[in-house]
Amino acid sequence: MEKITRKKIICGNWKMNHSHYEAVQTIQQLKATVSEEDLIKADVVIHPPFTSLRSLQTIFEAEKLGIFLGAQHCYFEKSGAFTGEISPEMLLKLHVTFVIVGHSERRTLFNQSDEIVNKTAKAISEAQMIPVICVGESQKIREAGEHFDFVASQVEAALSGFRIDTVKRIVLAYEPIWAIGTGNNATAEDAQDMCASIRKKVSELYDSDTANLVRIQYGGSVNEENAGSFCKKYDVDGLLVGGASLDGVKFGNVIKAVI
Ligand code: 13P
Repeated sequence: MEKITRKKIICGNWKMNHSHYEAVQTIQQLKATVSEEDLIKADVVIHPPFTSLRSLQTIFEAEKLGIFLGAQHCYFEKSGAFTGEISPEMLLKLHVTFVIVGHSERRTLFNQSDEIVNKTAKAISEAQMIPVICVGESQKIREAGEHFDFVASQVEAALSGFRIDTVKRIVLAYEPIWAIGTGNNATAEDAQDMCASIRKKVSELYDSDTANLVRIQYGGSVNEENAGSFCKKYDVDGLLVGGASLDGVKFGNVIKAVI
């Protein structure tokens, strides 16, 4: 596959943390840590809880910050009797650009199946936003040596029925479950090997030009110290950061380590 340069994408997934007041404070810290120029060098996305989307949209737009607004979840239907859910269109109206789907926490705690991940990713793309589709194996699967096959099957299921022009725009995130919130990050080599394997799978499903354009992130216990090492690897196009994105200074340092 021909080597090309892809713009890095660094996402902060706040999970169920920060009230809207704390969200605003965190963005102030981030602003004090990174410059406007820094934010041009990579795509930086914040995925706050739904309750902070409007506040952050207002700040990002009023202050013309070069930060994209992201969401952590949505339902695949357009509207209707789905108590507690949020539609892709509602997120689009708030100028959300990226939506996480298939995070292991949603797969395990909320029974999100491969089929739902696929339907949701399609609904996000149809609403002109970009899905950040998460995949990753458990410790048990890695110990059994089945991690490459397992992740490839998750990628295939998530992309089922996707048109080639849509696939080019998506983001895939490799988040091994054993590395999430444990402090036990994958090595940069492990991340590279899996991201390359994911790209190969996309190439088999579509073609090498398409696979070359898809951005593939690593996530799992990323911090200020290790962030730079992952993104030096050719197939690792960015990071999906949990804990270290909750602090604006730390997340700013992660961004600076990558760009
Ligand atoms: P941590 O960075 O806290 O390990 O979380 C990773 C993650 O799940 C991001 O989506």
